[in-house]
Amino acid sequence: MIEHLVFLFATWAAILGGCWASSDFPCPPAVQIAPCLCSVNADKMQMDCSDVDSTEHLKEIFHSSPPFPFTHFSKFLMEGNQNVEKLENGVFNVITFDEIEVTNGALVEVEQGSIEQSKEVLQKITMYGNQIERFLMNDAQDLTAFTELWYINLSGNVIQVFPAITSDKVTYLAVSDNPMTTIHNENLFGVPYLEHIHIDSIRMNILETKLLSNHRHLITINLSSNNLVQIQSTALIVQSPTLKEINLSNNRINDVEPGSFDTNVHGLKVNLDDNNLSTLDELTWKPLAKSEVSLTFNGNPLGCGCDMKWAVIPDNGEDYISFMEGTCPEGQSFTDLEPAWYEQFCN
Ligand SMILES: *[C@@H]1O[C@H](CO)[C@@H](O)[C@H](O)[C@H]1NC(C)=O
Ligand SMILES: *[C@@H]1O[C@H](CO)[C@@H](O)[C@H](O)[C@H]1NC(C)=O
Ligand SMILES: *[C@@H]1O[C@H](CO)[C@@H](O)[C@H](O)[C@H]1NC(C)=O
Ligand SMILES: *[C@@H]1O[C@H](CO)[C@@H](O)[C@H](O)[C@H]1NC(C)=O
Repeated sequence: MIEHLVFLFATWAAILGGCWASSDFPCPPAVQIAPCLCSVNADKMQMDCSDVDSTEHLKEIFHSSPPFPFTHFSKFLMEGNQNVEKLENGVFNVITFDEIEVTNGALVEVEQGSIEQSKEVLQKITMYGNQIERFLMNDAQDLTAFTELWYINLSGNVIQVFPAITSDKVTYLAVSDNPMTTIHNENLFGVPYLEHIHIDSIRMNILETKLLSNHRHLITINLSSNNLVQIQSTALIVQSPTLKEINLSNNRINDVEPGSFDTNVHGLKVNLDDNNLSTLDELTWKPLAKSEVSLTFNGNPLGCGCDMKWAVIPDNGEDYISFMEGTCPEGQSFTDLEPAWYEQFCN
């Protein structure tokens, strides 16, 4: 019995001692991976390589020996790194990540073979604020093998060609603030399950009319801060019952054709603030206000004249104006407009 207890105690001490000796466990030894830092928090292990000094050194760290004791990390992180310009094929060896986040650095190239090892676990890619010219260096990015990847954020890079991704899993795609100018209809055919698309600040000047027409799961469409001048009929007919928000603010829109938006979506908000609309034409806007789509027009050069008669003195006692927000030449809000003027001064 006593021997038994002594044996147990010895085993226990040995385990503790072992832990003490290699306190980095389950991470690889800190000296082996420096200047990358590995940390463990509850059941998550992450690798922060923000301070790594070159593209080659990053690869050497992941190929160093002995092999890392555990191979599945929750996150790879590199923030503000001005040395690594390329994530090369095979850079991470057999190590897999649920999330890869490279932000505000010098990264120019991401080869598909750099992330391929993680294809069964990778959920999120955030590569924000780098110098990326082309995502995965391909013309057609087939990500169908990435079975968990739902989030891609490539905002704030220098991507000129929209990445025509194919994936049934991706629901969140952000390419905000890249100099793209154009996205063609067919470029989005490969991501039919999109819920949120951020294509704001990409200098878009023409919204193609079938761009979002195959996307029945959309919730948010962000087209803000582009160079759009006209919204053509059907361009924003999406037919997604879950659509909540279309942000068209801060463009140069002066013409929205009738039939540009869905009228049968409950709770939809369309933001047209800071555009160049001078009139609110009945054929375009009445069907939306009638369907209780909430419309905002702040910061447009609206004249608030007879073009708005339909809204100020609506037929059949309908209430359109409470779904519309905006200001008139003298700063009056729509709800302050005097119905008598529209009775007397319009045809
Ligand atoms: C993209 O990622 C950056 C960094 O995490 C974040 O600040 C930004 O809001 C994201 N953009 C979008 C549109 O989600
Ligand atoms: C859309 O883009 C604008 C401008 O980049 C940004 O301010 C806004 O937060 C984005 N998000 C939504 C949901 O509109
Ligand atoms: C729409 O974009 C503008 C920037 O142009 C931003 O200020 C606003 O918050 C966005 N709307 C929403 C609901 O995010
Ligand atoms: C606004 O539209 C008018 C024509 O309606 C055009 O002359 C003017 O240049 C436009 N302004 C901007 C900033 O696009």
